[in-house]
Amino acid sequence: MRAGVFPDYEAMSAAAADVVARRLGEEHSSVLMLPTGITPLGMYRQLVEMHNSRGLSFADATFFNLDEYIGLAPDHRASYHVYMKENFYGLIDADPARVFVPDGTAPDPEAECERYEAVIRGTGGVDVCVLGIGRNGHIGFNEPGAPFDSRTRVVELSESTRKVNAADFEADRAPERAITVGMATIFEAREVMLLASGTNKAGAVAAAVEGDASESVPASMLKSHPHASLFLDEDAASGLGRGIAG
Ligand code: F6R
Repeated sequence: MRAGVFPDYEAMSAAAADVVARRLGEEHSSVLMLPTGITPLGMYRQLVEMHNSRGLSFADATFFNLDEYIGLAPDHRASYHVYMKENFYGLIDADPARVFVPDGTAPDPEAECERYEAVIRGTGGVDVCVLGIGRNGHIGFNEPGAPFDSRTRVVELSESTRKVNAADFEADRAPERAITVGMATIFEAREVMLLASGTNKAGAVAAAVEGDASESVPASMLKSHPHASLFLDEDAASGLGRGIAG
């Protein structure tokens, strides 16, 4: 797992956007898997800017989101459907037929997970998976303890994750369950980029990079990925003893 440490959030976001744009330039029909949250907003802004100013096109790409809350309609303001539309898919030339977000209102969530996993498989697999990281080391909504061989499935969110995400919800109550792409599905992406910013991610980043690969720190699975890179700002890297992990 390689790590690039950038002076600040904007520089980290620009570097991540450059890699995604380069991959798209090399292969217009790339399959991308994407996160929500605060961390990727700068990267999305940069990619939208590249679309507007120099015609970077996403029209042939396929997009999968990593996760969605169970019980939230696609038009709920805290849903990841709305987040992606407002911050990315709605601002570029993405083909709606090739944009996939798990359906949190599916009557049979387990069947929805199987369907989602099958659609991913049907594309021939993910070329680039972009991840954020939770303060507890989660990736997607794979909380500590998530089996490394897990697939897209229904998960219970940890209390700490629900607390961090509570502000998006009325009465500060985040949903208890979500659909997340599984650990094995993430690992199979040809390239994985994990973005982290801020001192509140420094502990999780250090545990992922410097500890042994362990299901108790989901992001540590990436240590054995053949093509995984960390994009860190200095604050997120501040817990790393050696600065740059190789
Ligand atoms: C969201 C997701 C999560 C977030 C993580 C960090 O789709 O997959 O794993 O990436 O919780 O969230 P932020 O960026 O808000 O700190």
